[in-house]
Amino acid sequence: MRFTKRSIAASALFFLPVQSVLYEEYILAPASRTIYPSVVHQVNGTVSNAKSLLGGPNGSATFQGNSSVTFDFTKNVGGVVSVTVTSSSTADAFIGLTYTESSLWINGQASDATAEVGLDEVVWLPVGQGPGTYTVARYHDRGAFRYLSLVSNATTEVTAVSTNFTAAPVQDLRAYRGFFHCDDEALNRVWYAGAYTNQICNIDPNYGNALVHLGNMSSSENISLPETVTWYNNATIANGSSVITDGGKRDREIWPGDMSVAVPSIFVSTNDLDSVKNSLNSLLSLQNATTGMLPYAGIPFSDLGVVSFTYHLYSLIGISYYYQYTGDVAYLQSVWPNFTKGLGWSLGFIDSTGLMNVTSSADWLRVGMGGHNIEANAILYYTINQGLDLAAVLNETYIVANWTTYATNIKSAANALLWNATTGLYHDNETTLLSPQDGNAWAIKSNLTLDSAQSAAISSALQARWGQYGAPAPEAGSPLTVSPFISSFELEGHFLASAPQAALDLIRVQWADFMLDDPRMTNSTFIEGYSFDGSLHYAPYTNDPRVSHAHGWSSGPTSLLSFYVAGLHLESAEGATWRFAPVLGDLTYVHAGFQTGLGSFESEVQMTGVNGSISALSFSTPAGTTGRVSLPGIVGSLQGGLGGYNVVLVDGAAENVSGGTWTLVLG
Ligand SMILES: *[C@@H]1O[C@H](CO)[C@@H](O)[C@H](O)[C@H]1NC(C)=O
Ligand SMILES: *[C@@H]1O[C@H](CO)[C@@H](O)[C@H](O)[C@H]1NC(C)=O
Ligand SMILES: *[C@@H]1O[C@H](CO)[C@@H](O)[C@H](O)[C@H]1NC(C)=O
Ligand SMILES: *[C@@H]1O[C@H](CO)[C@@H](O)[C@H](O)[C@H]1NC(C)=O
Ligand SMILES: *[C@@H]1O[C@H](CO)[C@@H](O)[C@H](O)[C@H]1NC(C)=O
Ligand SMILES: *[C@@H]1O[C@H](CO)[C@@H](O)[C@H](O)[C@H]1NC(C)=O
Ligand SMILES: *[C@@H]1O[C@H](CO)[C@@H](O)[C@H](O)[C@H]1NC(C)=O
Ligand SMILES: *[C@@H]1O[C@H](CO)[C@@H](O)[C@H](O)[C@H]1NC(C)=O
Ligand SMILES: *[C@@H]1O[C@H](CO)[C@@H](O)[C@H](O)[C@H]1NC(C)=O
Ligand SMILES: *[C@@H]1O[C@H](CO)[C@@H](O)[C@H](O)[C@H]1NC(C)=O
Ligand SMILES: *[C@@H]1O[C@H](CO)[C@@H](O)[C@H](O)[C@H]1NC(C)=O
Ligand SMILES: *[C@@H]1O[C@H](CO)[C@@H](O)[C@H](O)[C@H]1NC(C)=O
Repeated sequence: MRFTKRSIAASALFFLPVQSVLYEEYILAPASRTIYPSVVHQVNGTVSNAKSLLGGPNGSATFQGNSSVTFDFTKNVGGVVSVTVTSSSTADAFIGLTYTESSLWINGQASDATAEVGLDEVVWLPVGQGPGTYTVARYHDRGAFRYLSLVSNATTEVTAVSTNFTAAPVQDLRAYRGFFHCDDEALNRVWYAGAYTNQICNIDPNYGNALVHLGNMSSSENISLPETVTWYNNATIANGSSVITDGGKRDREIWPGDMSVAVPSIFVSTNDLDSVKNSLNSLLSLQNATTGMLPYAGIPFSDLGVVSFTYHLYSLIGISYYYQYTGDVAYLQSVWPNFTKGLGWSLGFIDSTGLMNVTSSADWLRVGMGGHNIEANAILYYTINQGLDLAAVLNETYIVANWTTYATNIKSAANALLWNATTGLYHDNETTLLSPQDGNAWAIKSNLTLDSAQSAAISSALQARWGQYGAPAPEAGSPLTVSPFISSFELEGHFLASAPQAALDLIRVQWADFMLDDPRMTNSTFIEGYSFDGSLHYAPYTNDPRVSHAHGWSSGPTSLLSFYVAGLHLESAEGATWRFAPVLGDLTYVHAGFQTGLGSFESEVQMTGVNGSISALSFSTPAGTTGRVSLPGIVGSLQGGLGGYNVVLVDGAAENVSGGTWTLVLG
């Protein structure tokens, strides 16, 4: 199903097990787990033939005394580095390794940072001990780096510098189950960079960050070179063979908030949902059996006992997403006591206003989280509604009236107490005029708004605040911050508010032009946050080298382009029921697909031109499923299905459409 020259390959994808992966040329994950540097970025001192170490194991470069080479992999990578040497001038010869994601922190004395202060220590290899391959200890697996420097203090001949790529340990790295393509190359690159970001954040659960400085290092401490900070990636953070974490370099821990953006993007790309389940189980194992409270973050961060009203709810949302993408009813049944007990904890903080009173400040490192906070209440409203859907699956009817009452009251109270009709935005709480990005984006996403006009007002007001580098989050303190995490929810808000063009524009400005193409970035994975003025300072941290450049919470566009632009919406678990409603904005072509346990979902739409009308369209859903089609303004019929059917569109819509491959016939 493709209108252009690829039609044979595309139909092969449909009817056979996936052999070749469509649009594989965009996938950033390496073909082999043994990878070599791509470019010599810089040489200091005298190093002969450094370029011979690029691309393979058969080089010969000689470091003369104090000297160094900085290699560029031209994208973020991660893993365990080995250096092969043939000879050294002294038994006391060492080669030090330093790593950094951003070019800003290339340094011969330290790596970029993982702790609150300082820079990370150099890993020294004792290469003077004889010819052979020297491999760093596994606890020094560096989860994400684009630049690797080798710093020598003697004369040493090196024949190979290789990295054992340890991310996404159980995945066949390039065997994606989903794909996306459109006529805007920037958006194509963003989709695949989001997918790759989540691969870099997927790790062997025995090699999480041990956080040895947690709680005993303060951000006011002054650690400056030559003093550096130790780092160990050897904490066991979950059971199983792989888990998803927040970031490849840092924190390398399980964070439920981050999962709410990462999991849908994992679903549409690699479909590695076992890793999601392992992360979820680790969070659930930390639930307080008495109160039902879930942790702010996973092991070992959970030792701090931090309470977060929003991150607590994100674990419950994680259960819902996991069920929606896998249809695993047995699993849902097994964690249903966790869900009800967890939701009960949150509902216990609802006061006489109808809103939850947040009594702990911990969230995504925004400030001013407390009281009748709009974001926390919108997330609660969303979680209750997810819970009602899950209760229906499990026939747990006894809970429906109780939860529905809470949800109804939250919606009316939030609109009565926190809505500002003049600005077209909700206030953070009733004691402030600050209108946050998080709560307003979540108000649309959760359907806390009363009608489409109210959602459209929020969408317009948020657009009016954009700058050259993206959308601001005024709730995140000073300097003004751009959060790709919260902006991922804002993107969905624009799609839901029937403003797809705003979503596409924001993806281009924030994700493509800045987060991919700025030379300080990795050109492959997405940074966790930065300043509204484009400086790579993220307000919650005093230590700029600490910022993570591969954060799954920044991967929102990947799922949103598949769900909204390509129009493939799951309306029940695994898409047993679905809705097909493509919205292309100024795109003229889109072709995308993903898989669930029921089969493949795929769509392809061609427009007559920019902002034109549909000229050709086909889509496919698995046999045995049914769905709705929405193609506003289109006159014609859908032909095909699994029986050569003809379904006439009525007002551009059709209901109860069966699975199969359908083609639009205009007129
Ligand atoms: C090289 O550096 C290492 C680590 O600091 C040190 O132990 C060793 O003595 C140095 N060797 C030379 C030849 O300077
Ligand atoms: C090489 O020298 C430049 C210029 O002094 C410096 O910025 C860079 O950090 C050095 N690189 C290494 C790996 O020491
Ligand atoms: C890479 O690391 C993995 C995990 O430790 C290990 O199983 C594999 O043998 C390593 N590969 C190489 C080439 O060293
Ligand atoms: C991590 O590795 C360091 C260095 O070998 C060691 O001191 C520490 O005990 C290890 N921690 C864990 C949790 O294994
Ligand atoms: C569970 O919460 C209760 C009430 O706050 C507290 O007393 C108890 O220590 C918690 N249990 C664990 C295992 O943290
Ligand atoms: C939540 O799930 C974990 C792991 O499945 C389990 O150990 C724990 O007892 C559950 N808590 C509740 C309240 O059901
Ligand atoms: C209400 O919101 C403002 C702005 O975010 C914040 O400064 C204030 O602390 C919040 N109130 C509470 C009780 O958290
Ligand atoms: C929320 O609860 C705290 C602690 O009980 C209380 O001090 C505060 O006044 C409450 N906030 C609101 C807005 O009711
Ligand atoms: C819920 O009820 C329906 C209809 O009786 C039944 O088909 C389904 O198996 C039930 N689901 C569960 C999880 O028990
Ligand atoms: C919901 O159920 C809980 C627990 O039984 C109860 O305390 C609460 O009053 C009920 N709330 C509503 C709105 O029905
Ligand atoms: C709405 O916001 C404007 C601008 O911040 C403010 O002047 C006005 O008082 C707000 N209205 C309400 C009802 O809070
Ligand atoms: C959103 O809420 C409105 C009522 O305010 C309701 O009519 C509509 O069906 C809801 N939308 C969804 C998708 O649940």
